[in-house]
Amino acid sequence: MSTVAELLSEARQLSPEDAPLLLAHVLGKDRSWLFAWPEHRLDDAQLKHYRQLLERRRQGEPLAYLTGEKAFWSLDLEVSPAVLIPRPETELLVELALDLDLPEAIQVLELGTGSGAIAIALAKERPDWKITATDASAAALDIARRNAARHQASNLDLIQGHWYQALPDDRNYQLILSNPPYVRTGDPHLLQDGLPWEPPQALTAGSDGLADLRIIIGEAPAHLLPDGWLLVEHGYDQGKAVRDLFDSAGFSRVATRQDLGGQDRVTLGCYPPRP
Ligand SMILES: C[S@@+](CC[C@H](N)C(=O)[O-])C[C@H]1O[C@@H](n2cnc3c(N)ncnc32)[C@H](O)[C@@H]1O
Repeated sequence: MSTVAELLSEARQLSPEDAPLLLAHVLGKDRSWLFAWPEHRLDDAQLKHYRQLLERRRQGEPLAYLTGEKAFWSLDLEVSPAVLIPRPETELLVELALDLDLPEAIQVLELGTGSGAIAIALAKERPDWKITATDASAAALDIARRNAARHQASNLDLIQGHWYQALPDDRNYQLILSNPPYVRTGDPHLLQDGLPWEPPQALTAGSDGLADLRIIIGEAPAHLLPDGWLLVEHGYDQGKAVRDLFDSAGFSRVATRQDLGGQDRVTLGCYPPRP
């Protein structure tokens, strides 16, 4: 049997950042508990589980899939390989939506919600908003539903289906948001940074990465209320192409915003065009 202190000391050489998180996860405690109880001994099953997780981490599997948790905005969210791991860059989409000058009690739509990160963050920040979030994946929506229940996001409806086809015909929205798949098929980045473990249908969108953005932007005017806003996340090198799609669809006040790393990340526009 091994103690917490022995395992942490061993991990110092191997995996100094991840090992304490994995050890705390296996014990069902938080990291500070480990430092308060260094002499605690793991039983055989816990030790085996910990060593297996450490090995999977060494093979490149994302930490969030090993612990089943990821922080986004002010929320701890459940994640599994059925959903994209929410990224810190995506918080820009939430910030920009909250900064818009919008009326109260509006109808909001998020397309491709995955774990529910964006929709739940907005639902908690704006309890007066009525939010609908969709995904093509039933397995992703199961996770989003559990996250919505965990955070008591009662102003959020989750619907399964292909982009706008999921929606009831008779409803239009003041605000539509999406972080859709936007990586080019065959992009070498897909082989790096844990992406091989993430769901391909959450990542790739045709040979130029714009296949889903074309649908989401092109069909948005039919689903927006007058003076409604569309906000989409995209790749760092897709800003110009995405602004062109907004312009072709007839949006006004089209602009691209940068993430904290200074990279083009979100494009937004208002519909209909203003004179
Ligand atoms: C990049 S992930 C974003 C997940 C989440 N919104 C986030 O920001 O962490 C894109 C999501 O779009 C969903 N998706 C892909 N194709 C779709 C389609 N045709 N209709 C609806 N959702 C789709 C995927 O299942 C995935 O959950």
